[in-house]
Amino acid sequence: QEVFLKDYKPTPYTFETVYLNFELGEEVTFVSSRIRVKPQCSGHVGVELQGPFHPSPLILDGSDLKLLEIKINGDKLASEAYRVTSKRLIITSPPPGAFDLEVRTEIEPQNNTALEGLYKSSGNFCTQCEAEGFRKITYYLDRPDVMAVFTVHIVADKKQYPVLLSNGNLVAEGDLEDGKHFCTWEDPFKKPCYLFALVAGDLACTEDSFVTKSGRQVTLRIWVQEHNKTKTGHAMQSLKAAMKWDEDVFGLEYDLDLFNIVAVDDFNMGAMENKSLNIFNSRLILASPETATDADYTSIEGVVAHEYFHNWTGNRVTCRDWFQLSLKEGLTVFRDQEFSCDMNCRPVARIGDVLFLRMSQFPEDASPMSHPVRPASYIKMDNFYTVTVYEKGAEVVRMYKTLFGKEGFRKGMDLYFRRHDGQAVTCDDFLAAMRDANDGNMGNFARWYSQAGTPELTVATSYDEKAKTLTLRCSQHVPPTAGQPLKEPAFIPFAVGLLGKDGNDIPLHAVYDGSKLLDLGGKDVFTAVLRVEEKEHVFTFTGIPERPIPSLLRDFSAPVRLFHDLTDEDLVFLLAHDSDAFNRWEAAQTLAKKLMLDLVKKQQKGEELVMHDGFVNAIGSVLTDKSLDKALIARTVTMPSQTELADLMDVADPDAIHFVQRFVIRQLALRLRAQLMEVYVSNQSDEPYVPDHPSKARRSLKNAALGYLSYLNEPEITAMAKEAFGSAKNMTDQFAALAALARNPGEERESALDSFYKQWEKDPLVVNKWLALQAMSEIPGNVAKVRQLLVHPSFDIKNPNKVRSVVASFMACPINFHAADGSGYEFAADMVIRLDPINAQVAARLAGGFKRYRKYDEKRQALVKAQLERISAANGLSENVFEIVTKCLTA
Ligand code: ARG
Ligand code: ZN
Repeated sequence: QEVFLKDYKPTPYTFETVYLNFELGEEVTFVSSRIRVKPQCSGHVGVELQGPFHPSPLILDGSDLKLLEIKINGDKLASEAYRVTSKRLIITSPPPGAFDLEVRTEIEPQNNTALEGLYKSSGNFCTQCEAEGFRKITYYLDRPDVMAVFTVHIVADKKQYPVLLSNGNLVAEGDLEDGKHFCTWEDPFKKPCYLFALVAGDLACTEDSFVTKSGRQVTLRIWVQEHNKTKTGHAMQSLKAAMKWDEDVFGLEYDLDLFNIVAVDDFNMGAMENKSLNIFNSRLILASPETATDADYTSIEGVVAHEYFHNWTGNRVTCRDWFQLSLKEGLTVFRDQEFSCDMNCRPVARIGDVLFLRMSQFPEDASPMSHPVRPASYIKMDNFYTVTVYEKGAEVVRMYKTLFGKEGFRKGMDLYFRRHDGQAVTCDDFLAAMRDANDGNMGNFARWYSQAGTPELTVATSYDEKAKTLTLRCSQHVPPTAGQPLKEPAFIPFAVGLLGKDGNDIPLHAVYDGSKLLDLGGKDVFTAVLRVEEKEHVFTFTGIPERPIPSLLRDFSAPVRLFHDLTDEDLVFLLAHDSDAFNRWEAAQTLAKKLMLDLVKKQQKGEELVMHDGFVNAIGSVLTDKSLDKALIARTVTMPSQTELADLMDVADPDAIHFVQRFVIRQLALRLRAQLMEVYVSNQSDEPYVPDHPSKARRSLKNAALGYLSYLNEPEITAMAKEAFGSAKNMTDQFAALAALARNPGEERESALDSFYKQWEKDPLVVNKWLALQAMSEIPGNVAKVRQLLVHPSFDIKNPNKVRSVVASFMACPINFHAADGSGYEFAADMVIRLDPINAQVAARLAGGFKRYRKYDEKRQALVKAQLERISAANGLSENVFEIVTKCLTA
């Protein structure tokens, strides 16, 4: 059943207070609720005018619940007074005015493999309610615009579940008969039910504290299984840094005396921002130098901050309906990205974010699953926790900052909170706050929320020697997408700088938009933010003494595909000189993509591949440039991914792309062998592991060099990798060495994999890495090996992390997933079908891996279609998978 944004209506009733009582048990769990229900005036006016007063029915959501009893104002409700369906409880004629509703239900968390609602993980109880999981706990108005004050009373066996947690403050606790005990929690802030959380189990905590700038003493606790207590330090540091950063940058303080984080092994996504009780996938909390890589440390920092930042952007101000999801997610991703930029190295972090956008969101936007940042409809909301809503949504928020500057953006945020604290609002409200605080003209900016598809911006540059002007002729095209054949022009903030022959930025004094002189807002401006709002839009810079090299779309100022007429020489110049570090990296990427796509064409025609000397030299000089940040070097010498290259082709050819990528990497490794060796050797270090930027940067460069060299498959290199593998003191280095050894089939690969497993078999998070490395392998015919992993003792289909490590990792390897015989597609479809009855949310995620199939040749398309049809014919298909598969087949 499809839900539409245009059908939004407030509920006829609101909930003021909610009291929940949980009796947790092994066979059954009882949930009793007492809700203070109030008619919503607006819902009643119309009814009253029609004659005698008839309150609207109260329609509550609920699924997988056993209803035991209903009472209204203390009286048991007769069975004629309500109806129960598989998805709803309908109270046909509630009393007029406010009333108390009491409902008692029974659930079986121990059998809940969908991991939404109340379920068990490693023997402990925990919850996941966003988006619509609360209805699996009790009957409720399960939507974000119904906000209530919650009190939660939990009763459980004291020995098995010594720790009982919920949102807010602990107001009572004590012992009961039969070895049971209880805790009562009260959350003073009203909230939608998707932010409710409960945890009960045998958990240990590490504790720390934070004093807010207005003097509130906040206790911070991270709860994990006892044996993981030593691995919470980095998450705790990250939390404290995030709390401080939000005060410094946005003036936002924490608002309770206690902040809890719980790590669980079985979790559908990354983490969840439940008020004062964040619940995390353990892979985003637990870290030690021996078991977590630098990348893990970085994502833990980012996600701990993300969930903390939700306390304001999501919890204090929440979404009116789920179509507005990007209101909280786009904004909170933007905030965590900025935090990570400030904690690490800004350009490196920005490059990582843009790469992720281009590798996942651009393809999504060009697929049958494309949807706007604010979708217009959905069948299962869980399918819309997408890179479009999150990452493109974050780019949309970033554009306000680009347009209004840091101070202007802060003013907009302040106004947003002044207006909407305690409310459930829309993306339009956010836009209005930004606009009003800055007296801004938003033009057609709102289209970023309603229009799907990645705008294509083409720029023709011309320099007029006589007039000393540089003209940028911009034209834009938004491609048609599923359900949106016709598109209007987008509003593209286009950041531009001009480099002189000396490599320095030319000061920009005056620029014309058509014939209108633009205000650049200052004297020594080196980057102008042009507003490209029309389909064809011409800008002219005046007073430019010589032909400049334009640096276009600096810092990736808008989520668009940029086409321009810069020559290879221009790009090499930008790579060497641009003051915008992002665009230096981008210049290298553009060169590499051009070169590789040319080679792909040659390969398809059966011509001989020849490596471009100038490119090898350019990469070589970056590699050995001592003045550059090491992480930036590592990024710059890393070739574009196969996924990105596929996205740039009309018909993706995974075989040719794979062949060319290997060819280019091997050529670079051969011809820069000495430099790579030098980099590898000189970046070794005996110092103890620290996850700060300089150390992470050093390791990333060293391991990038090792990665390159491993493609040579030479005994000397293998020996080097073996030595690194054996002597590594941290997971970053050990895993990089393992990956190098596992690159090429043979004895060394197998023995390294075996010894790694033996060393780490007791640590599920490390075993996940081991599974993923094998599943992603580019060794031809890997699907057979991956099928074997499914019967390996470490695999468990009920654990989403294991499924992602094996199945999603396999699907992320183009050469094997898109194998011409269809074996990769068949495997993926088998897994979707097997997983769907167990965990539909994760099964639908896997099914989403098929969404780019139209990019491929007709034979592959037919193979995928056959698999999609096989999935869609499966018995009892979930709505989640149904929605994805249907859209892939028909959109
Ligand atoms: N709000 C969470 C976060 O981004 C994610 C919840 C995802 N829910 C889902 N059903 N996929 O922090
Ligand atoms: Zn979020």
